[in-house]
Amino acid sequence: MTVLGVAATHKSNRPPRRQARARHYVMTPPTYFAVEYSINPWMDTAARVDAGRAHAQWETLRRTYKELGHVVDVVDPVPGLPDMVYAANGGLVVNGSAVVAKFAYPQRAGEADVYAEWLARQGYQPVQTRYTNEGQGDLLVAGSIMLAGYGFRTDRRAHGEIAQLTGLPTYSFELLDPRFYHLDTALAVLDDTTVAYYPPAFSNTSRVSLRTLFPDAIEVASSDAYVLGLNVVSDGRNVVLPAAATGFAAQLRDAGFEPVGVDLSELLKGGGSIKCCTLEVHS
Ligand code: ARG
Repeated sequence: MTVLGVAATHKSNRPPRRQARARHYVMTPPTYFAVEYSINPWMDTAARVDAGRAHAQWETLRRTYKELGHVVDVVDPVPGLPDMVYAANGGLVVNGSAVVAKFAYPQRAGEADVYAEWLARQGYQPVQTRYTNEGQGDLLVAGSIMLAGYGFRTDRRAHGEIAQLTGLPTYSFELLDPRFYHLDTALAVLDDTTVAYYPPAFSNTSRVSLRTLFPDAIEVASSDAYVLGLNVVSDGRNVVLPAAATGFAAQLRDAGFEPVGVDLSELLKGGGSIKCCTLEVHS
C-alpha cells in the first residue's frame, strides 16, 4: 500500500509479536523461610511470616511456569538457611558454565555450597569467583550479553571474572538505592533485546548507558518499582510479575507482552519476589 506515493512502512502503533521460548527454571520451596535477620530494607524481623501462605504462593508460581510449558527443577531446602527460597542468588548457569555464588553476608554463605552441590549433581562443574557475586540477583543474561549490577552485593570486580568465565560481553550498572539492592529488583529482561527498568535506582552514568544500550526500554513508575514489580520472569512473551504491579502490567500489554500476575506478598517480606525465587538455566 502507498500513501501519497510513499511506500508505507510497517511501522505502526501495533506492538511487535512476541515469541515465547521454553525455559528451564530452578526453584527451592520456602520450607524454612522466615525473616530471622535483616540484610536489606524490606526485611523487618518483627514482621510475622505466614509459612502456609508463603508455601501456597510459591506453589502457585511453580504451577504457573509449568502451565506455560517450562521445566522446573526443585532443590531441597536446608534448615537454617531461610533465604534459600531466593534461588536466583544460588549461582549463574549459562552456555554450559556454572558459576557458584559468593554471598556478601555470612547469613547466606551456606547456600553457596548447597547450590554448588546441586549443580555438580546435574553434571556441571561449578566454578568459584574470587570476588562477591550473588548469582542471578545481579547477573542478568539478555540474549548474548550480560547485564551486571554492583553497589550493594556483587563486587564490581566480579563482573570481569564473570565475563571471562561465561564468554559474554558484560555491562556494569551501578545501583544507588538500598531498596533496589540487586539488579533484578531494578531491571527486568523481557526478551533478548528488550528490558524494563526503574531509572531512579541507578547512578547517572548507568542511566546513560542503559538509554544507549536499550533506547526502546520500558521505564516503570515508582508505584510498580516499590512492590518489586520489576522482579519478573519472562519467556519472551509471557511475563510472570508481582500481581500488585498493575501499571507495569498495562505497559507490558501495550508492548505486546502477556502479563501474568502472581501474588508473592509473603516472600516480599524477605525482599524478594518472582525473579528472586527463580534461577534460570540458560542453555
Ligand atoms: N533476603 C534476601 C537477601 O537479602 C533476598 C534476596 C532476593 N533475591 C534477589 N534475587 N533479589 O539477600
